[in-house]
Amino acid sequence: MLLNVVLGFLCGGFALAAGNDPATQGPPPLLLVSFDGFRADYLKRFHMPNLELLYSQGVLVEQLTNVFITKTFPNHYSLVTGLYAESHGVLASSMYDPVSHKHFSLRNDSDPWWWSEAEPLWLTALDSGYETAAMMWPGSDVAIGNRTATHFLPYDAAVTFRQRLGNVTSWMAGNGKEKGAMFAALYWEEPDRSGHAFGPDNNTAMAAVLKEVDDCVGLMVSELRRVGLWGKLNLVVTSDHGMAQCSAQRLIRLDDCLHPDNYTLVDLTPVAALIPNTDPEAVFGLLNGCHPHMTAYLKKAIPERLHYRDNERIQPIILIADEGWTIVQRGNKLPRYPEAVFGLLNGCHPHMTAYLKKAIPERLHYRDNERIQPIILIADEGWTIVQRGNKLPRCEISTGIVTSNSNQNLVNISIKRSHAE
Ligand SMILES: *[C@@H]1O[C@H](CO)[C@@H](O)[C@H](O)[C@H]1NC(C)=O
Ligand SMILES: *[C@@H]1O[C@H](CO)[C@@H](O)[C@H](O)[C@H]1NC(C)=O
Ligand SMILES: *[C@@H]1O[C@H](CO)[C@@H](O)[C@H](O)[C@H]1NC(C)=O
Ligand SMILES: *[C@@H]1O[C@H](CO)[C@@H](O)[C@H](O)[C@H]1NC(C)=O
Ligand SMILES: *[C@@H]1O[C@H](CO)[C@@H](O)[C@H](O)[C@H]1NC(C)=O
Ligand SMILES: *[C@@H]1O[C@H](CO)[C@@H](O)[C@H](O)[C@H]1NC(C)=O
Repeated sequence: MLLNVVLGFLCGGFALAAGNDPATQGPPPLLLVSFDGFRADYLKRFHMPNLELLYSQGVLVEQLTNVFITKTFPNHYSLVTGLYAESHGVLASSMYDPVSHKHFSLRNDSDPWWWSEAEPLWLTALDSGYETAAMMWPGSDVAIGNRTATHFLPYDAAVTFRQRLGNVTSWMAGNGKEKGAMFAALYWEEPDRSGHAFGPDNNTAMAAVLKEVDDCVGLMVSELRRVGLWGKLNLVVTSDHGMAQCSAQRLIRLDDCLHPDNYTLVDLTPVAALIPNTDPEAVFGLLNGCHPHMTAYLKKAIPERLHYRDNERIQPIILIADEGWTIVQRGNKLPRYPEAVFGLLNGCHPHMTAYLKKAIPERLHYRDNERIQPIILIADEGWTIVQRGNKLPRCEISTGIVTSNSNQNLVNISIKRSHAE
């Protein structure tokens, strides 16, 4: 099914100003940039001069409707396929396919099989004879239908925005031998990463990261000018989903509803996916009405408006937490999302210590190196960290930092300003 409302809540449209040289006339190239987890109201809460300058020269879409579920992968694939998740098949960050028995996770996402129910724009444009580029956009390093964009780099969170941009602008500019890419998609992890770590309500943290994001926009414009693309391409700056503040006071414990023997967990929060181990209706009966801030659906009853039913990979029961609520299996701690950038953290254990990089104890002499990840987990002697398993909560860490999730639904598009250059 086709997605009605797509494209960024934030959109710097740049009308074609080319045409000086009739020989190069043709459709202008398109650069699609996503800043992950850019909640709509950040624009009102924080001053972002470069972004403001950009949209004052184009069109600002104040809010967009994301697809269900509000995760990074489903929404980014919707942006480049025009399809709801049930139609493109990338339904969550954690998936299980009951037919092939395959598992998908942020750590194991490159089997083309998961992505091949749809075709992203960087492939479709190849069929028109165009060169394309996809920089770390979800799915861009996967050979979908045995093809990739003309130019891409494998996902690597350590590559800076400046480096990604440098590659993208040179791919788009082309050179004497190669024509430039006509379509390029560029992905950046912020402000999602900081939104998860500090919570969107933390003005200090969000102001700092949004200043960085705004600097990225400024850099992008100056680089596009430098390589002579400015004014000759269309630029769309967008995002995939918003961000809601979570709280340890807003936990929904599955163990209070049903016994761990009753189900196999595929995904946990804010939308849980469960496979009942016994009669689905009976298991559903235990979940239905169990918590005032959680709604349980048997697959066949998932509301039409969510466009999240017609796919094998959708499990027999899903649970939807209200915004700002977090589903856990047990305990009274706020889990943290496994997002690609944090990685390695699909499971946690009570005997484990977690450190933010900057807080790794000096005595370990394990801090001062680029290759040390933002978060490390240390199991006590004799204990084992696992990624997955029915009996352990699928939580991340307890850093003592307020965490947040991404179930803020953004609704309604309204055009604020429009001005073609
Ligand atoms: C990754 O998933 C594929 C199926 O899509 C599976 O065959 C493979 O074993 C998985 N790899 C790991 C390391 O789990
Ligand atoms: C995929 O593409 C490569 C190189 O173009 C080719 O050698 C290979 O046979 C293709 N595989 C399939 C399954 O089409
Ligand atoms: C492109 O990416 C590579 C690998 O990250 C990097 O070494 C190189 O400097 C980048 N190119 C530009 C022009 O920034
Ligand atoms: C907000 O984030 C900052 C880091 O930028 C952190 O030091 C502070 O503790 C956070 N405040 C709250 C209330 O979480
Ligand atoms: C749930 O699991 C418990 C413990 O194994 C069992 O007694 C109960 O019958 C199960 N309920 C359903 C609906 O499967
Ligand atoms: C859409 O958003 C605008 C601006 O926030 C608001 O005035 C309008 O009522 C909204 N429309 C709908 C249908 O929700």
